[in-house]
Amino acid sequence: MPWSRRELLKAGIGVGASILLPPTLARADSLIQRKIPSSGESLPVIGIGTARRYEAVTTEAERAPLREVLRQFAEMGGKVIDTAPSYGTAETVVGDLVAELKNRESLFIATKLGTHGRDAGIEQLEQSFKRLRTAKIDLIAVHNLQDTRTQLGTLRQWKQAGRIRYVGITTSFERQHPEFEQTMRAEALDFIQVDYALDNRKADQRILPLAADRGMGVMINLPFGRGRLFTAVQGKSLPPWTSEFDCSSWAQFFLKYIVSHPAVTCALPGTAKVEYLVDNLGAARGRLPDAAMRRRMESFIDGL
Ligand SMILES: NC(=O)c1ccc[n+]([C@@H]2O[C@H](COP(=O)([O-])OP(=O)(O)OC[C@H]3O[C@@H](n4cnc5c(N)ncnc54)[C@H](OP(=O)(O)O)[C@@H]3O)[C@@H](O)[C@H]2O)c1
Repeated sequence: MPWSRRELLKAGIGVGASILLPPTLARADSLIQRKIPSSGESLPVIGIGTARRYEAVTTEAERAPLREVLRQFAEMGGKVIDTAPSYGTAETVVGDLVAELKNRESLFIATKLGTHGRDAGIEQLEQSFKRLRTAKIDLIAVHNLQDTRTQLGTLRQWKQAGRIRYVGITTSFERQHPEFEQTMRAEALDFIQVDYALDNRKADQRILPLAADRGMGVMINLPFGRGRLFTAVQGKSLPPWTSEFDCSSWAQFFLKYIVSHPAVTCALPGTAKVEYLVDNLGAARGRLPDAAMRRRMESFIDGL
């Protein structure tokens, strides 16, 4: 059995001694981290999204690969899992698997609140706590600006009561960006979550700089444009210059672009296979592209 990190620390083997650690822990130590502006807490720059692939899970055969993803994710030092009450079975699957794996303490669970009216909001929150089988949820964000003011009011009360650690808002629709921006200006938020991808860069014009100005953490949804980017590069090889930022797959190309934006805290690629998990977490290791390299990546994608 591999040693736990706690055992190693107890034995006096510190973080700086990662060279001595067994492979799993050594990898955990090397994921690139970003600080949450409102607290200074660190998060790895790559998380997991649970839309779609976790939404209609009923059998053990469907759960088994997801259990393996969540087990290895935590073992490799991953933390952020993004879900929502509107993602079918996703919250329940995450709650059940995390309870089985007993790895709740090493994870940062983010869900959403998406309904109208105070009472309906409270009912949905209670349901999320039950489904996620946890006493405290790390982040709850108002989903797609639904009844934002009312729901943020409730979220703040629950944060004050200690049931939620961070609050925020999300969108994945360009048509909502103006209202999203207004809300960011008017409200104090720990996090925003927005759509941003190499072929969908509108958020970097106003929303990402505003988040940096306002001290808000940023989670990125649809980092592959729901897989659209993979279709765009189908049959193409990675350009040789991608080795300059330690990139060995298209997924890492797309994700390293996102997490090299200085305002971004983490990206949330939809991840339901171990093979994808290992690949995607590779984007949280090694060098990241600098500003000039980011321009080159944009030109490459724009030229396809
Ligand atoms: N408004 C909101 O709050 C909002 C809206 C949308 C999404 N979200 C969040 O953002 C997350 C990400 O969005 P998404 O899952 O819809 O889209 P996405 O992350 O842009 O793309 C997911 C697709 O990429 C594929 N993929 C993942 N890793 C891969 C890899 N390493 N190599 C090749 N293909 C790979 C998956 O393939 P398979 O199909 O084979 O699994 C899946 O089809 C969601 O899960 C959700 O948590 C939030």
